[in-house]
Amino acid sequence: MRISFADARPSAAHALALVVAPGTLDGTALGSLPDAAQALARTAAKALRFDGEAGAVVEYFAEADGANRRLLLVGLGSKTDFEKAGAALVAKLLTSGETTLVVDISGVAGSKAAEAAAAVASGAMLRSWRYDTYRTKLDAKQRPSLEEVVIVGGGAEAEARWAAASAVVEGVAFTRELVTEPGNIIYPESFVERCRPLEALGVKIEVLGRDAMAALGMGALLGVAQGSARPPQMLVMRWEGAESSKAPVAFVGKGVTFDSGGISLKPGGGMEDMKWDMGGAGAVAGAMKALALRKANANVIGVCGLVENMPDGLAQRPGDVVTSMSGQTVEVINTDAEGRLVLCDALTWVQKNYAPKTIVDLATLTGAMIVALGHEYGGLFANDDLLADQLLAAATASGDRLWRMPLGDAYDKLIDSPIADMKNVGPREAGSITAAQFLKRFIDEGVRWAHLDIAGMVWASKPGTTWDKGATGYGVRLLDRFVADNFEN
Ligand code: BES
Ligand code: MN
Ligand code: ZN
Repeated sequence: MRISFADARPSAAHALALVVAPGTLDGTALGSLPDAAQALARTAAKALRFDGEAGAVVEYFAEADGANRRLLLVGLGSKTDFEKAGAALVAKLLTSGETTLVVDISGVAGSKAAEAAAAVASGAMLRSWRYDTYRTKLDAKQRPSLEEVVIVGGGAEAEARWAAASAVVEGVAFTRELVTEPGNIIYPESFVERCRPLEALGVKIEVLGRDAMAALGMGALLGVAQGSARPPQMLVMRWEGAESSKAPVAFVGKGVTFDSGGISLKPGGGMEDMKWDMGGAGAVAGAMKALALRKANANVIGVCGLVENMPDGLAQRPGDVVTSMSGQTVEVINTDAEGRLVLCDALTWVQKNYAPKTIVDLATLTGAMIVALGHEYGGLFANDDLLADQLLAAATASGDRLWRMPLGDAYDKLIDSPIADMKNVGPREAGSITAAQFLKRFIDEGVRWAHLDIAGMVWASKPGTTWDKGATGYGVRLLDRFVADNFEN
Protein backbone atom coordinates (compact mmCIF):
# COMPACT_ATOMS: atom_id res chain seq x y z
CA MET A 1 0.00 0.00 0.00
CA ARG A 2 1.21 3.53 -0.81
CA ILE A 3 0.84 6.69 1.22
CA SER A 4 0.70 10.15 -0.29
CA PHE A 5 -0.17 13.63 0.88
CA ALA A 6 -2.14 16.34 -0.91
CA ASP A 7 -3.39 19.87 -0.28
CA ALA A 8 -6.79 19.32 -1.86
CA ARG A 9 -9.06 16.36 -2.48
CA PRO A 10 -8.49 14.74 -5.88
CA SER A 11 -11.45 14.17 -8.18
CA ALA A 12 -10.78 10.66 -9.52
CA ALA A 13 -12.53 7.54 -8.25
CA HIS A 14 -11.92 6.97 -4.57
CA ALA A 15 -13.55 6.45 -1.22
CA LEU A 16 -13.60 9.60 0.87
CA ALA A 17 -13.26 9.67 4.64
CA LEU A 18 -13.74 12.60 7.00
CA VAL A 19 -12.45 12.57 10.57
CA VAL A 20 -14.93 13.53 13.26
CA ALA A 21 -14.19 14.62 16.84
CA PRO A 22 -16.89 13.75 19.41
CA GLY A 23 -19.75 16.23 19.52
CA THR A 24 -18.91 17.94 16.22
CA LEU A 25 -21.31 16.21 13.83
CA ASP A 26 -23.79 19.06 13.92
CA GLY A 27 -21.06 21.66 13.56
CA THR A 28 -18.29 22.02 11.03
CA ALA A 29 -17.09 18.40 10.73
CA LEU A 30 -19.07 17.69 7.57
CA GLY A 31 -18.93 21.20 6.12
CA SER A 32 -16.90 20.23 3.08
CA LEU A 33 -19.61 17.86 1.82
CA PRO A 34 -22.57 18.89 -0.35
CA ASP A 35 -25.81 19.44 1.61
CA ALA A 36 -27.38 16.12 0.59
CA ALA A 37 -24.30 14.12 1.58
CA GLN A 38 -24.18 15.98 4.90
CA ALA A 39 -27.81 15.18 5.64
CA LEU A 40 -27.30 11.52 4.80
CA ALA A 41 -24.19 11.41 6.98
CA ARG A 42 -26.11 12.73 9.97
CA THR A 43 -28.93 10.26 9.43
CA ALA A 44 -26.48 7.38 9.10
CA ALA A 45 -24.47 8.49 12.14
CA LYS A 46 -27.61 8.69 14.23
CA ALA A 47 -28.86 5.30 13.08
CA LEU A 48 -25.46 3.74 13.84
CA ARG A 49 -25.11 5.54 17.20
CA PHE A 50 -21.93 7.21 15.99
CA ASP A 51 -20.64 10.32 17.67
CA GLY A 52 -16.95 10.45 16.84
CA GLU A 53 -15.83 7.66 19.19
CA ALA A 54 -12.21 6.64 18.61
CA GLY A 55 -11.93 4.25 15.67
CA ALA A 56 -15.71 4.03 15.08
CA VAL A 57 -16.62 4.13 11.39
CA VAL A 58 -19.78 5.07 9.49
CA GLU A 59 -19.91 3.95 5.88
CA TYR A 60 -22.49 5.08 3.32
CA PHE A 61 -22.80 6.11 -0.32
CA ALA A 62 -23.63 9.57 -1.61
CA GLU A 63 -22.62 12.14 -4.16
CA ALA A 64 -19.58 14.17 -3.20
CA ASP A 65 -16.76 15.88 -5.10
CA GLY A 66 -18.55 15.30 -8.38
CA ALA A 67 -19.29 11.56 -8.20
CA ASN A 68 -21.27 8.95 -6.34
CA ARG A 69 -18.78 7.41 -3.99
CA ARG A 70 -18.24 5.49 -0.78
CA LEU A 71 -18.13 7.98 2.07
CA LEU A 72 -16.86 7.26 5.55
CA LEU A 73 -16.85 9.09 8.84
CA VAL A 74 -14.23 8.01 11.32
CA GLY A 75 -14.17 8.98 14.98
CA LEU A 76 -11.16 10.58 16.66
CA GLY A 77 -12.32 10.02 20.19
CA SER A 78 -11.68 12.32 23.13
CA LYS A 79 -7.91 11.81 22.81
CA THR A 80 -7.88 12.91 19.16
CA ASP A 81 -6.39 9.61 18.03
CA PHE A 82 -5.50 10.02 14.37
CA GLU A 83 -3.55 6.79 14.24
CA LYS A 84 -6.52 4.77 15.39
CA ALA A 85 -8.68 6.58 12.83
CA GLY A 86 -6.29 5.68 9.99
CA ALA A 87 -6.12 2.09 11.17
CA ALA A 88 -9.89 1.73 11.50
CA LEU A 89 -10.44 3.02 7.98
CA VAL A 90 -7.97 0.57 6.52
CA ALA A 91 -9.42 -2.32 8.52
CA LYS A 92 -12.77 -1.45 6.90
CA LEU A 93 -11.51 -0.95 3.36
CA LEU A 94 -8.52 -3.23 2.89
CA THR A 95 -10.45 -5.93 1.02
CA SER A 96 -13.51 -3.80 0.18
CA GLY A 97 -12.89 -3.46 -3.54
CA GLU A 98 -11.83 0.19 -3.19
CA THR A 99 -8.35 0.90 -4.53
CA THR A 100 -7.89 4.46 -3.25
CA LEU A 101 -8.88 6.06 0.03
CA VAL A 102 -8.75 9.80 0.54
CA VAL A 103 -8.70 10.88 4.18
CA ASP A 104 -9.45 14.56 4.65
CA ILE A 105 -8.20 15.96 7.95
CA SER A 106 -8.35 19.61 6.86
CA GLY A 107 -9.38 21.95 9.60
CA VAL A 108 -9.45 19.28 12.29
CA ALA A 109 -5.80 18.99 13.26
CA GLY A 110 -4.97 22.71 13.65
CA SER A 111 -1.32 23.48 14.28
CA LYS A 112 -0.49 19.79 14.58
CA ALA A 113 -1.70 18.96 11.07
CA ALA A 114 1.55 17.33 9.91
CA GLU A 115 1.77 15.16 12.99
CA ALA A 116 -1.87 14.17 12.55
CA ALA A 117 -1.34 13.29 8.88
CA ALA A 118 1.67 11.12 9.74
CA ALA A 119 -0.35 9.43 12.46
CA VAL A 120 -3.15 8.60 10.00
CA ALA A 121 -0.50 7.20 7.66
CA SER A 122 1.12 5.11 10.41
CA GLY A 123 -2.20 3.67 11.49
CA ALA A 124 -3.14 2.90 7.90
CA MET A 125 0.14 1.22 7.05
CA LEU A 126 0.39 -0.77 10.27
CA ARG A 127 -3.16 -2.07 9.92
CA SER A 128 -2.71 -3.00 6.25
CA TRP A 129 0.15 -5.40 6.98
CA ARG A 130 -0.51 -9.04 6.22
CA TYR A 131 1.56 -11.98 5.11
CA ASP A 132 0.04 -13.91 2.24
CA THR A 133 3.22 -15.65 1.06
CA TYR A 134 1.87 -19.14 1.66
CA ARG A 135 -1.71 -18.52 0.55
CA THR A 136 -1.88 -19.66 -3.04
CA LYS A 137 -5.64 -19.98 -3.28
CA LEU A 138 -7.03 -16.68 -2.02
CA ASP A 139 -10.04 -15.80 -4.13
CA ALA A 140 -10.43 -12.32 -5.53
CA LYS A 141 -12.66 -11.03 -2.75
CA GLN A 142 -10.22 -12.11 -0.04
CA ARG A 143 -7.32 -10.25 -1.60
CA PRO A 144 -6.43 -6.72 -0.50
CA SER A 145 -7.78 -4.18 -2.96
CA LEU A 146 -6.62 -0.97 -1.31
CA GLU A 147 -3.51 0.37 -3.04
CA GLU A 148 -3.21 3.95 -1.92
CA VAL A 149 -4.18 6.23 0.94
CA VAL A 150 -4.08 9.95 0.17
CA ILE A 151 -4.09 12.22 3.19
CA VAL A 152 -5.39 15.73 2.62
CA GLY A 153 -4.74 18.69 4.90
CA GLY A 154 -1.45 17.73 6.56
CA GLY A 155 0.34 20.84 5.33
CA ALA A 156 3.89 21.24 4.06
CA GLU A 157 5.55 19.30 6.87
CA ALA A 158 3.56 16.10 6.45
CA GLU A 159 6.08 14.39 4.17
CA ALA A 160 8.97 15.01 6.56
CA ARG A 161 6.98 13.76 9.53
CA TRP A 162 6.06 10.64 7.64
CA ALA A 163 9.68 9.96 6.69
CA ALA A 164 10.54 9.38 10.36
CA ALA A 165 7.29 7.62 11.22
CA SER A 166 7.51 5.27 8.23
CA ALA A 167 10.94 4.06 9.42
CA VAL A 168 9.27 2.74 12.53
CA VAL A 169 6.40 1.24 10.55
CA GLU A 170 8.93 -0.63 8.41
CA GLY A 171 10.68 -1.87 11.53
CA VAL A 172 7.38 -3.19 12.87
CA ALA A 173 6.65 -4.90 9.55
CA PHE A 174 10.05 -6.60 9.62
CA THR A 175 9.43 -7.92 13.12
CA ARG A 176 5.99 -9.19 12.14
CA GLU A 177 7.48 -11.03 9.18
CA LEU A 178 10.12 -12.74 11.33
CA VAL A 179 7.54 -13.69 13.95
CA THR A 180 5.00 -14.96 11.41
CA GLU A 181 7.39 -17.23 9.52
CA PRO A 182 7.21 -20.83 10.71
CA GLY A 183 10.07 -22.72 12.31
CA ASN A 184 11.02 -24.58 9.14
CA ILE A 185 11.65 -21.26 7.41
CA ILE A 186 13.06 -19.13 10.23
CA TYR A 187 15.75 -20.95 12.19
CA PRO A 188 18.94 -19.45 13.60
CA GLU A 189 20.86 -19.25 10.32
CA SER A 190 17.94 -18.06 8.21
CA PHE A 191 17.05 -15.45 10.85
CA VAL A 192 20.54 -14.06 10.39
CA GLU A 193 20.14 -14.09 6.60
CA ARG A 194 16.86 -12.13 6.85
CA CYS A 195 18.75 -9.50 8.83
CA ARG A 196 21.64 -9.22 6.34
CA PRO A 197 19.92 -6.50 4.27
CA LEU A 198 20.23 -4.20 7.30
CA GLU A 199 23.91 -3.89 6.39
CA ALA A 200 22.91 -1.82 3.38
CA LEU A 201 21.30 0.63 5.83
CA GLY A 202 24.56 1.00 7.74
CA VAL A 203 24.01 -1.62 10.44
CA LYS A 204 27.20 -3.56 11.25
CA ILE A 205 26.60 -7.28 11.59
CA GLU A 206 28.70 -9.80 13.46
CA VAL A 207 27.73 -13.48 13.82
CA LEU A 208 29.06 -16.07 16.25
CA GLY A 209 28.58 -19.71 15.29
CA ARG A 210 28.67 -22.79 17.47
CA ASP A 211 32.47 -23.08 17.57
CA ALA A 212 33.00 -19.43 18.45
CA MET A 213 30.45 -19.69 21.22
CA ALA A 214 32.02 -22.89 22.51
CA ALA A 215 35.42 -21.19 22.60
CA LEU A 216 33.89 -18.42 24.71
CA GLY A 217 32.37 -20.93 27.11
CA MET A 218 28.70 -20.26 26.40
CA GLY A 219 27.62 -23.56 27.90
CA ALA A 220 24.14 -22.39 28.84
CA LEU A 221 23.12 -21.27 25.36
CA LEU A 222 24.84 -24.23 23.71
CA GLY A 223 23.12 -26.67 26.06
CA VAL A 224 19.76 -25.53 24.69
CA ALA A 225 20.93 -25.80 21.10
CA GLN A 226 22.44 -29.24 21.46
CA GLY A 227 19.22 -31.17 20.84
CA SER A 228 18.62 -29.52 17.48
CA ALA A 229 20.01 -30.23 14.03
CA ARG A 230 20.01 -26.47 13.42
CA PRO A 231 23.21 -24.81 14.62
CA PRO A 232 22.78 -21.83 16.97
CA GLN A 233 23.84 -18.31 16.10
CA MET A 234 24.54 -15.21 18.07
CA LEU A 235 23.65 -12.23 15.92
CA VAL A 236 25.07 -8.85 16.82
CA MET A 237 23.80 -5.74 15.04
CA ARG A 238 25.37 -2.37 15.71
CA TRP A 239 23.96 1.01 14.77
CA GLU A 240 26.59 3.68 15.32
CA GLY A 241 24.61 6.84 14.75
CA ALA A 242 26.44 9.02 17.30
CA GLU A 243 30.08 9.86 18.01
CA SER A 244 32.00 6.86 19.32
CA SER A 245 32.57 8.48 22.72
CA LYS A 246 28.86 8.12 23.45
CA ALA A 247 28.20 4.95 25.48
CA PRO A 248 25.99 2.44 23.71
CA VAL A 249 22.65 1.08 24.87
CA ALA A 250 22.17 -2.64 24.31
CA PHE A 251 19.04 -4.55 23.39
CA VAL A 252 19.15 -8.31 23.86
CA GLY A 253 16.47 -10.60 22.42
CA LYS A 254 15.43 -14.17 23.09
CA GLY A 255 15.48 -15.86 19.72
CA VAL A 256 14.22 -19.40 20.23
CA THR A 257 13.10 -20.03 16.67
CA PHE A 258 11.07 -22.99 17.84
CA ASP A 259 10.50 -24.10 21.43
CA SER A 260 9.37 -27.71 21.64
CA GLY A 261 10.37 -27.71 25.32
CA GLY A 262 13.22 -30.12 24.61
CA ILE A 263 13.24 -33.32 26.68
CA SER A 264 10.76 -31.56 29.02
CA LEU A 265 8.53 -31.68 25.95
CA LYS A 266 5.54 -29.36 25.77
CA PRO A 267 2.07 -30.81 25.27
CA GLY A 268 1.03 -31.03 21.61
CA GLY A 269 -1.96 -28.69 21.75
CA GLY A 270 -0.90 -25.21 20.75
CA MET A 271 2.75 -26.14 20.36
CA GLU A 272 2.72 -24.47 16.94
CA ASP A 273 2.60 -21.14 18.80
CA MET A 274 6.19 -21.70 19.80
CA LYS A 275 7.33 -20.58 16.35
CA TRP A 276 6.98 -17.08 17.80
CA ASP A 277 9.28 -17.77 20.72
CA MET A 278 11.78 -15.58 18.88
CA GLY A 279 9.58 -12.50 19.33
CA GLY A 280 12.13 -10.77 21.56
CA ALA A 281 14.87 -11.21 18.96
CA GLY A 282 12.38 -10.18 16.29
CA ALA A 283 11.63 -6.94 18.15
CA VAL A 284 15.35 -6.21 18.49
CA ALA A 285 15.88 -6.76 14.75
CA GLY A 286 12.88 -4.57 13.87
CA ALA A 287 14.06 -1.82 16.20
CA MET A 288 17.53 -1.86 14.63
CA LYS A 289 15.91 -1.49 11.22
CA ALA A 290 13.77 1.43 12.39
CA LEU A 291 16.74 3.20 14.02
CA ALA A 292 18.89 2.76 10.93
CA LEU A 293 16.16 3.89 8.53
CA ARG A 294 15.59 7.09 10.45
CA LYS A 295 19.33 7.51 11.11
CA ALA A 296 18.94 7.77 14.86
CA ASN A 297 21.56 9.86 16.63
CA ALA A 298 22.51 7.11 19.08
CA ASN A 299 24.79 4.10 19.46
CA VAL A 300 22.74 0.96 19.80
CA ILE A 301 23.77 -2.70 19.93
CA GLY A 302 21.20 -5.38 19.21
CA VAL A 303 22.06 -8.93 20.25
CA CYS A 304 19.90 -11.91 19.32
CA GLY A 305 20.53 -15.29 20.95
CA LEU A 306 19.24 -17.67 18.27
CA VAL A 307 18.62 -21.34 18.97
CA GLU A 308 16.07 -24.04 18.35
CA ASN A 309 14.96 -26.03 21.43
CA MET A 310 14.52 -29.64 20.31
CA PRO A 311 14.65 -33.09 21.93
CA ASP A 312 17.00 -35.27 19.89
CA GLY A 313 19.34 -37.95 21.23
CA LEU A 314 22.01 -35.40 22.06
CA ALA A 315 19.59 -33.06 23.81
CA GLN A 316 20.36 -31.91 27.32
CA ARG A 317 18.60 -33.76 30.12
CA PRO A 318 16.78 -32.50 33.17
CA GLY A 319 19.41 -32.53 35.90
CA ASP A 320 22.32 -31.63 33.62
CA VAL A 321 24.67 -28.97 34.94
CA VAL A 322 26.00 -26.42 32.46
CA THR A 323 28.62 -23.70 32.87
CA SER A 324 27.66 -20.30 31.51
CA MET A 325 30.06 -17.81 29.94
CA SER A 326 30.03 -15.88 33.22
CA GLY A 327 31.52 -18.93 34.96
CA GLN A 328 28.35 -19.47 36.99
CA THR A 329 26.91 -22.97 36.86
CA VAL A 330 23.27 -23.87 36.28
CA GLU A 331 21.35 -27.02 37.10
CA VAL A 332 18.88 -27.53 34.26
CA ILE A 333 15.81 -28.77 36.09
CA ASN A 334 13.48 -28.19 33.15
CA THR A 335 14.70 -28.01 29.56
CA ASP A 336 11.62 -25.96 28.71
CA ALA A 337 12.93 -23.04 30.79
CA GLU A 338 15.42 -22.45 27.96
CA GLY A 339 14.99 -18.76 27.27
CA ARG A 340 16.90 -17.68 30.37
CA LEU A 341 19.73 -20.09 29.44
CA VAL A 342 20.04 -18.43 26.05
CA LEU A 343 19.76 -14.90 27.39
CA CYS A 344 22.27 -15.28 30.21
CA ASP A 345 25.15 -15.96 27.83
CA ALA A 346 24.04 -13.22 25.45
CA LEU A 347 23.93 -10.79 28.41
CA THR A 348 27.41 -11.78 29.57
CA TRP A 349 28.78 -11.51 26.04
CA VAL A 350 27.49 -8.01 25.41
CA GLN A 351 28.74 -6.74 28.79
CA LYS A 352 32.22 -8.18 28.20
CA ASN A 353 32.50 -6.89 24.65
CA TYR A 354 30.72 -3.53 24.64
CA ALA A 355 30.35 -2.44 28.28
CA PRO A 356 26.91 -0.86 27.78
CA LYS A 357 25.67 1.18 30.75
CA THR A 358 22.08 0.31 29.89
CA ILE A 359 20.71 -3.06 28.79
CA VAL A 360 17.13 -3.94 27.91
CA ASP A 361 16.33 -7.56 27.18
CA LEU A 362 13.11 -8.70 25.53
CA ALA A 363 11.83 -12.25 25.75
CA THR A 364 8.74 -14.41 25.44
CA LEU A 365 10.03 -15.90 28.65
CA THR A 366 7.18 -17.29 30.73
CA GLY A 367 3.61 -18.46 30.40
CA ALA A 368 3.18 -17.11 33.93
CA MET A 369 3.52 -13.58 32.54
CA ILE A 370 0.40 -14.16 30.45
CA VAL A 371 -1.41 -15.49 33.51
CA ALA A 372 -0.52 -12.29 35.38
CA LEU A 373 -1.03 -9.58 32.75
CA GLY A 374 -2.95 -11.20 29.92
CA HIS A 375 -2.37 -9.56 26.57
CA GLU A 376 -2.62 -5.95 27.75
CA TYR A 377 0.83 -5.23 29.15
CA GLY A 378 4.31 -6.64 28.88
CA GLY A 379 6.00 -7.25 32.23
CA LEU A 380 8.85 -4.90 33.13
CA PHE A 381 11.54 -5.87 35.63
CA ALA A 382 14.37 -3.44 36.36
CA ASN A 383 17.27 -2.96 38.74
CA ASP A 384 17.04 0.84 38.38
CA ASP A 385 14.03 3.08 39.02
CA LEU A 386 14.99 5.76 36.51
CA LEU A 387 15.39 3.17 33.76
CA ALA A 388 12.03 1.66 34.70
CA ASP A 389 10.40 5.10 34.50
CA GLN A 390 12.02 5.80 31.13
CA LEU A 391 10.66 2.54 29.76
CA LEU A 392 7.21 3.09 31.27
CA ALA A 393 7.09 6.54 29.67
CA ALA A 394 8.12 5.12 26.28
CA ALA A 395 5.53 2.38 26.70
CA THR A 396 2.72 4.87 27.29
CA ALA A 397 3.84 7.13 24.45
CA SER A 398 4.28 4.32 21.94
CA GLY A 399 1.24 2.22 22.80
CA ASP A 400 3.44 -0.86 23.51
CA ARG A 401 2.32 -0.97 27.13
CA LEU A 402 4.35 -2.17 30.12
CA TRP A 403 3.56 -2.89 33.76
CA ARG A 404 6.32 -2.94 36.35
CA MET A 405 6.83 -6.13 38.36
CA PRO A 406 8.88 -6.63 41.52
CA LEU A 407 12.35 -8.12 42.09
CA GLY A 408 13.84 -9.02 45.46
CA ASP A 409 16.11 -11.30 47.47
CA ALA A 410 13.26 -13.48 48.71
CA TYR A 411 12.48 -14.37 45.09
CA ASP A 412 16.16 -14.82 44.28
CA LYS A 413 16.58 -17.51 46.93
CA LEU A 414 13.97 -19.64 45.18
CA ILE A 415 16.43 -20.55 42.41
CA ASP A 416 19.31 -21.67 44.62
CA SER A 417 20.41 -25.20 43.68
CA PRO A 418 21.83 -27.97 45.88
CA ILE A 419 24.39 -28.92 43.23
CA ALA A 420 25.17 -25.81 41.20
CA ASP A 421 25.14 -22.01 41.62
CA MET A 422 21.49 -21.88 40.60
CA LYS A 423 18.75 -23.90 38.99
CA ASN A 424 16.86 -22.78 35.92
CA VAL A 425 13.39 -22.92 37.47
CA GLY A 426 11.88 -22.08 40.82
CA PRO A 427 8.54 -23.23 42.21
CA ARG A 428 5.30 -22.60 40.30
CA GLU A 429 4.55 -19.41 42.19
CA ALA A 430 6.04 -16.15 40.88
CA GLY A 431 7.37 -17.94 37.80
CA SER A 432 7.95 -14.74 35.84
CA ILE A 433 9.76 -13.12 38.73
CA THR A 434 12.13 -16.02 39.40
CA ALA A 435 12.92 -16.04 35.66
CA ALA A 436 13.85 -12.36 35.95
CA GLN A 437 15.91 -13.06 39.07
CA PHE A 438 17.82 -15.67 37.11
CA LEU A 439 18.78 -13.10 34.46
CA LYS A 440 19.68 -10.54 37.12
CA ARG A 441 22.41 -12.86 38.37
CA PHE A 442 24.24 -12.22 35.08
CA ILE A 443 24.18 -8.42 35.24
CA ASP A 444 27.40 -6.69 36.32
CA GLU A 445 27.53 -4.20 39.17
CA GLY A 446 26.68 -0.67 37.99
CA VAL A 447 24.87 -1.71 34.81
CA ARG A 448 21.30 -0.45 34.43
CA TRP A 449 19.24 -3.42 33.28
CA ALA A 450 15.62 -4.06 32.42
CA HIS A 451 13.95 -7.29 31.39
CA LEU A 452 10.73 -7.21 29.39
CA ASP A 453 8.72 -10.43 29.48
CA ILE A 454 6.61 -10.04 26.36
CA ALA A 455 5.14 -13.55 26.18
CA GLY A 456 1.59 -12.18 26.02
CA MET A 457 2.27 -9.44 23.52
CA VAL A 458 3.93 -10.72 20.35
CA TRP A 459 1.00 -12.71 18.98
CA ALA A 460 -2.69 -11.78 18.93
CA SER A 461 -5.57 -14.20 18.50
CA LYS A 462 -7.86 -11.38 17.40
CA PRO A 463 -7.34 -8.12 15.52
CA GLY A 464 -6.23 -5.06 17.52
CA THR A 465 -6.15 -1.37 16.66
CA THR A 466 -3.08 -1.41 14.47
CA TRP A 467 -2.72 -5.10 13.74
CA ASP A 468 -4.72 -7.97 12.32
CA LYS A 469 -4.71 -11.23 14.21
CA GLY A 470 -1.22 -12.74 14.29
CA ALA A 471 2.12 -11.03 14.84
CA THR A 472 1.79 -7.61 16.48
CA GLY A 473 5.34 -6.29 16.11
CA TYR A 474 5.29 -5.44 19.82
CA GLY A 475 8.46 -3.84 21.13
CA VAL A 476 9.70 -1.99 18.04
CA ARG A 477 7.85 1.22 18.72
CA LEU A 478 8.68 0.94 22.40
CA LEU A 479 12.43 0.64 21.80
CA ASP A 480 12.41 3.31 19.11
CA ARG A 481 10.67 5.73 21.46
CA PHE A 482 12.95 4.79 24.35
CA VAL A 483 15.99 5.61 22.22
CA ALA A 484 14.49 8.81 20.82
CA ASP A 485 13.57 10.18 24.25
CA ASN A 486 16.67 9.16 26.22
CA PHE A 487 19.68 8.60 23.98
CA GLU A 488 19.51 11.06 21.11
CA ASN A 489 20.25 14.37 22.80
N1 BES B 1 8.57 -19.84 25.53
C1 BES B 1 8.05 -20.31 26.77
C2 BES B 1 7.13 -19.29 27.45
C3 BES B 1 5.83 -19.04 26.74
C4 BES B 1 4.76 -19.88 26.98
C5 BES B 1 5.69 -17.99 25.90
C6 BES B 1 3.56 -19.64 26.35
C7 BES B 1 4.49 -17.75 25.28
C8 BES B 1 3.42 -18.57 25.51
C9 BES B 1 9.19 -20.62 27.73
O1 BES B 1 10.35 -21.08 27.14
C10 BES B 1 8.70 -21.69 28.64
O2 BES B 1 8.48 -22.77 28.18
N2 BES B 1 8.54 -21.34 29.91
C11 BES B 1 8.06 -22.26 30.86
C12 BES B 1 8.89 -22.10 32.11
C13 BES B 1 8.66 -23.15 33.13
C14 BES B 1 9.18 -24.48 32.62
C15 BES B 1 9.34 -22.76 34.39
C16 BES B 1 6.60 -21.92 31.13
O3 BES B 1 6.26 -20.73 31.14
O4 BES B 1 5.82 -22.83 31.30
MN1 MN C 1 10.33 -23.19 26.86
ZN1 ZN D 1 10.67 -20.54 25.20
